[in-house]
Amino acid sequence: TYVVTEACIRCKYTDCVTVCPMDCFMEGPNFLVINPDECIDCSICVAECPVGAIVSDHEIAEDQHHFLDINRRLSQHPAWKRISRAKPPLPDHEHWATVTDKLSLLET
Ligand code: F3S
Repeated sequence: TYVVTEACIRCKYTDCVTVCPMDCFMEGPNFLVINPDECIDCSICVAECPVGAIVSDHEIAEDQHHFLDINRRLSQHPAWKRISRAKPPLPDHEHWATVTDKLSLLET
């Protein structure tokens, strides 16, 4: 499966959702996740993300491993909705695109 990692937090560009053939992106307030049970490993979304937030579970960096569980858990969050159409990125996305250690800012 592919996994949305930390770089997405507070950016949420949504370019990724328009190319997903399975519509498996789920949207929260300032982050998206991929439903790992629906992802078919096509990898098309990877190149769409301007901040490189989407990675394969086979290639995910050690310091991003917790996002495997975060994607699985939040894709089942009752308040998170499926998203398949792009929308404008969040305000200040340019600032947040270069910030690391954003996990504490992830809103559910
Ligand atoms: Fe997030 Fe990148 Fe998609 S910032 S919403 S994973 S295009």
